[in-house]
Amino acid sequence: RLVAQGAATWYFARRGEPLARLLHAPWRNDPYPVHRQLRERGPLVRSRLGTLAATTHALCDAVLRDRRFGVRTSDGSYADPTAAAVDLQLSLLELDPPDHTRLRKLAAPAFRPRRLEGYRGRVEQIADELLDRASERGEFDLVRDFAGPLPIRVICELLGLPPLDAQRLAHHGRVLAGALDGIRSPRHLRQMRASLTELDALFEDLVEQRRADPGDDVVSDLVAALDADELTGSELLQLCDLLLVAGFETTVNLIGNGTLALLRHPDQWARLRAEPDLAAAVVEETLRWDPPVQMTVRIAHEPVELAGRELAVDTPVLVLLASAGRDPAVHPDPDRFDLDRPDRGDHLAFSSGIHYCLGAPLARMEAEIAFRALATRVPGLHRAGTPTHRPTSIIHGLAALPVTTDRPL
Ligand code: HEM
Repeated sequence: RLVAQGAATWYFARRGEPLARLLHAPWRNDPYPVHRQLRERGPLVRSRLGTLAATTHALCDAVLRDRRFGVRTSDGSYADPTAAAVDLQLSLLELDPPDHTRLRKLAAPAFRPRRLEGYRGRVEQIADELLDRASERGEFDLVRDFAGPLPIRVICELLGLPPLDAQRLAHHGRVLAGALDGIRSPRHLRQMRASLTELDALFEDLVEQRRADPGDDVVSDLVAALDADELTGSELLQLCDLLLVAGFETTVNLIGNGTLALLRHPDQWARLRAEPDLAAAVVEETLRWDPPVQMTVRIAHEPVELAGRELAVDTPVLVLLASAGRDPAVHPDPDRFDLDRPDRGDHLAFSSGIHYCLGAPLARMEAEIAFRALATRVPGLHRAGTPTHRPTSIIHGLAALPVTTDRPL
């Protein structure tokens, strides 16, 4: 069924159906002209495959905040057939209240900005180390050598995992994040099952270690909650899977997409080099202009009237977060990448409503440190080849960005 669905989408993409095009290369590499086309059709569009999509900032935000929408269908199943096929459960992302509220309360304290500040020095140190090592060679791949390893090392520290596991984790993260787009082949399915099994074993060990020797980390918090019967063992493992995947499969793309945007806009790159405090502005403008998570989905839990259409119970609505960031009603001249725009923070890259990204303060801190380090440590950075995009649509980012530096430090 999944293969047939994929084939139908491809067919409609070739015939010019914009929603289907968002899911396929080459439109996937630069989806913004397709987003514009969709927005011009109205705030809520319906594809020839019957899919509904919210295209404007106002409607996306309204759907995400509307408690008549959730993430599960009325029979309790999660909307994503791919996830169901491999029993991939991404915890909070796939739960409605009251389970969502209970679990989110348990994980939230570890992500409060004040607690995260304790990691700032360490994140700076990791960023500097990675850049120094990469730039010694003069030419390097910004994704493989910097944007990728930084968030992995940070999430390992946050979860209390030894850095030795970083390469394995990167592999599992890619496999699971790739699954958000659908299963591409029986081999992909086998890889996913293997990754899930290995991750479960890894996190089961970690739980035992934290129980014996608790620390000031999120897993120790969750183990205490487990022992107080506030969550189950499988809920804990699923939450760890989510933190791992969400923790680096998104942030790598924020750093990668932002760096590419800067290198394609030399005037903005010069602004950052002259004023490294603009790093926070680079983070927000990248999240608006080229966000790592392009879309999400919500299901009507009751009959709803939305933008003049009657939606029956269980109707899914695609929420085009990336289109919201280019909505001219909120962002004048939306296709311009501009660090000085006053509206840049007004995006939905971290979603909205009860599923608003729990890791947003961490992602912002990591990316700000990354852009500042680029501006101060490798000011001569420029492109050394053609960037390649990942073959995914929901997660949008680069597989490789070859760069070189004029003045290695
Ligand atoms: C949820 C984006 C980084 C943890 C979300 C959602 C989005 C998002 C769009 C909500 C999806 C929906 O509404 O259906 C991003 C982006 C990031 C990022 C663009 C980086 C640039 C992180 C990091 C972590 C994290 C670093 C943690 C280590 C989570 C969690 C949720 C979530 C736990 C689920 C929240 C809930 O359902 O209540 N993220 N994220 N994210 N994110 Fe992030």
